[in-house]
Amino acid sequence: MSFRIRKAVFPVAGLGTRFLPATKTVPKEMLPVVDKPLIQYAVDEAIEAGCDTLVFVTNRYKHAVADYFDKAYELEVKLEKSGKTELLGMIRDVLPRHVRAIFVTQAEALGLGHAVLCARPVIGDEPFAVLLPDDLIWNKGPGALRQMAALAERESASVIAVQDVPPDQTGSYGIVATGDVQGRTAQINAIVEKPRPDVAPSNLAVVGRYVLSGRIFDLLSRTRPGAGGEIQLTDGIAALMKEERVLAHRFEGKRFDCGSRIGLVEATIEFALQHDDLAEDTREIMRAALAR
Ligand code: G1P
Repeated sequence: MSFRIRKAVFPVAGLGTRFLPATKTVPKEMLPVVDKPLIQYAVDEAIEAGCDTLVFVTNRYKHAVADYFDKAYELEVKLEKSGKTELLGMIRDVLPRHVRAIFVTQAEALGLGHAVLCARPVIGDEPFAVLLPDDLIWNKGPGALRQMAALAERESASVIAVQDVPPDQTGSYGIVATGDVQGRTAQINAIVEKPRPDVAPSNLAVVGRYVLSGRIFDLLSRTRPGAGGEIQLTDGIAALMKEERVLAHRFEGKRFDCGSRIGLVEATIEFALQHDDLAEDTREIMRAALAR
């Protein structure tokens, strides 16, 4: 079976409690890094990797995400009339024409594995991507998912993004144990969700990018609640590994943990420094702030 991915799943039904009170009304995926919401960075990465069908797993509090990807008629007419073509292009490019967005609901917050399972009717049994928008990944060259998609196709295998983390942080991630490493890639032979440092098989952590075989759905439908009482994607992957090869890939690029406040601050600073029209002022402001 070809491992070429066309569909990407974005689980966006989380509560975002770390960003309260902002997330009382604004979904965390809509929090901006400079001028784009987090979800847009993940969507752009999926499109760059060749995906043309985007599946958002939402809940009843996340209308803002659907509204964001909808056409903004009044705003478009206004910008068109006033000749603001650059801004017009910007809001139209939120989703290019060849890409379609599909929304499915996760009625109950039963875990990440359950959220992914909710996308099954749209995905069918083909390989697909999962992107967690909290993990913002920047790379000068091809995006993380594009790197993984190429590897998945070459190797006809599922691929999971990984990164080394400090040993005392294993309890915040899915952690993998691998066989021999070849370049940036290795076969996974164990995966556990959020192990304590003393029982963690390594300090190689799962980052929120996955290319998964469609087989995972059957396995997820049989997965019982695990860590934190939730149906974990990690446990579905552990079951998949017993049937098919699953590779870990240390992607090229820098990951910002935008699920935490400090990660969002870090991403904001880094991205501001990358905007030509903001870089100089940002440096100036930071120099002045640090001198106080
Ligand atoms: C989820 C996954 C975890 C992974 C992490 C990456 O955890 O369950 O395996 O390492 O995303 O960001 P969460 O951060 O949603 O608790």
